Amino acid sequence: MDNRDELLRAIKDEVLALKSSPLYAERVKNGVFPVIGEGSHQAKIMFVGEAPGKNEAATGRPFAGAAGKILDELLVSVGINRPEVYITNIVKDRPPGNRDPLPEEIAAYGPFLDRQIDIIQPKIIATLGRFSMEYIIRKFGLEQELKPISALHGASITAQASYGPVLVVPLYHPAASIYNQHLKETLLADFKILKQYL
Ligand code: URA
Repeated sequence: MDNRDELLRAIKDEVLALKSSPLYAERVKNGVFPVIGEGSHQAKIMFVGEAPGKNEAATGRPFAGAAGKILDELLVSVGINRPEVYITNIVKDRPPGNRDPLPEEIAAYGPFLDRQIDIIQPKIIATLGRFSMEYIIRKFGLEQELKPISALHGASITAQASYGPVLVVPLYHPAASIYNQHLKETLLADFKILKQYL
């Protein structure tokens, strides 16, 4: 195991034992898993979603359900192999009924995402949806760049991470395109842009 593997393993152990989390009791009650993240620990791109849904909590894997199927298609469309990237969420446990994450949940799990970024040191952070866009842009002190996702999707914002520059690329959440073909086409176009940043 290299150092990255060990540091990421420590995050997993801490989240598993995170009794102070507002969502811990739900996890135990439902007999499900936290979703820490999946993919290459050397990834150049890190995708950051919102929170696990039902399938993700049942399997412990990010983007394992309907939204994941779309994410897989988007990756295939530009020839990126899913195991080459790292995929995670801000919130690591499922909010009940798939509701939006609450500010206190984002506050409880955000520091784990921050550590994942510092360990993996991606060149690009692609945010999936409004919550992760806002979290990542604020985290890097770039709130003056914040606009609605309809204005920022596909853009690239250079941020200074602890390890050097990182490109933040806001994208729509794949789930938003399930019943919206226009958004699906926008996502396909934005993935072509993303591939060029690689
Ligand atoms: N939606 C997310 O934001 N993350 C997942 O892992 C699955 C669905």
